[in-house]
Amino acid sequence: MKRKLVIVMMGLPARGKSTMARKLGRTLELDGVRVRIFNNGELRRRLDSGTDTSSAAFFSPANIQGVEMRERIAQMNIEAAQTFFSEGGEVAIMDASNVTRRRRQHVADSFPGVPLCYIECLNADEEALEANLERKVRLKEFQHLTHDQALESFIQRIRSYESIYEPLDAETNRIVVDSFESCILQEHITDVLPYYDRIRDILTTRVVRNLFLVRHGETLFNQEDRIGGDSDLTGKGREQANALAEHFATVRIPIIFTSNYKRTLQTATPIAERQHPCSIIALPEFNEIYAGQCEGMTYEEVRQQMPDVAKERGRNKYSYVYPDGEGYMTMEERVLRGLKKVFFLNNYSENIMIVGHRAVNRVILSCFLSRQEEEIPYIYMPQDRYYHIQIDPHKRIFELIAYRSIVSGGISW
Ligand code: F6P
Repeated sequence: MKRKLVIVMMGLPARGKSTMARKLGRTLELDGVRVRIFNNGELRRRLDSGTDTSSAAFFSPANIQGVEMRERIAQMNIEAAQTFFSEGGEVAIMDASNVTRRRRQHVADSFPGVPLCYIECLNADEEALEANLERKVRLKEFQHLTHDQALESFIQRIRSYESIYEPLDAETNRIVVDSFESCILQEHITDVLPYYDRIRDILTTRVVRNLFLVRHGETLFNQEDRIGGDSDLTGKGREQANALAEHFATVRIPIIFTSNYKRTLQTATPIAERQHPCSIIALPEFNEIYAGQCEGMTYEEVRQQMPDVAKERGRNKYSYVYPDGEGYMTMEERVLRGLKKVFFLNNYSENIMIVGHRAVNRVILSCFLSRQEEEIPYIYMPQDRYYHIQIDPHKRIFELIAYRSIVSGGISW
């Protein structure tokens, strides 16, 4: 017998609902469940209604025409989900803000006899929210506006939803999740819900579709074996960046995450230019290990001028902290925070690229591989290859790929 379930996403715009919905959808699908996502925002953007449905005015609760159109869109998706069930579908994910009790009640009434599970997405992390707004305003629906106009319009949209927001409280079978931290904040389940244990797992487990972890191309400092700094790519480094761009030209990469340093941005730029469209988001969390008093020195100079530093670091590279600087151990927290931002900002269904540095990439990789701490600072991190990582409940792939060796110039995932 088919086990049916309606999952009702709920939350303000930019709180990670669609990312969660996609993660649920894809993982359940891999489990063999017949699942489909019904996303009101996507339907609104697809419908050519003759109205500007991206404007702040459209979302005002006082705009009768806007309210009616949004209700109509919600109804269209409800009917599509009913059809999906009648054709053997098992799990329908209603991906919309669903911020009023009235709307949620209407969804519930539309599926008599089918259990519902409500998932409210919250995100209390201001920085992640700001970064998400930056990503949203670059979407196609805001192309006719300047950056500031688009940001203002989106903030107004959020305010409109806030003014009518009724948190989940009366509904049975509800979960509140922190979509940035990927953790469950509240749980109130009183019925036996099909797939529930699986859903809980998915909400809190990291799933990676395709993560391409790239180290920046060669820099002037690399040539001289110097530590840290903010130097430019060399001619060879620029060639490496162009080769990467060529290599990834056939793979869809909507966002490239970098550090704030020139060498990662210069490596990411040609890759982004071959994509349509692609944003580069620089995260300070991915800046290279800060070597304090040793910044700008060569490894040889450190050995000569600061022999204690060289000796101590050699003894325990993982826990060693540079004078006035950082160590692998002290970097872990910020790098992990950067990764949480990446997963929050990246749409689950899409590929992720991070262009980072030697030490930072080692720490990123160690978050996915189970490595002994003392091995982390020695993970191989070359500049002519990248790591490809894929993790889902059925697959774990970690591979080092040489991008220059692909003669045909392209790959696809
Ligand atoms: O590419 C050089 C570099 O990124 C330095 O800036 C950094 O200090 C170093 O690599 C990290 O590698 P290790 O910990 O092996 O010195």
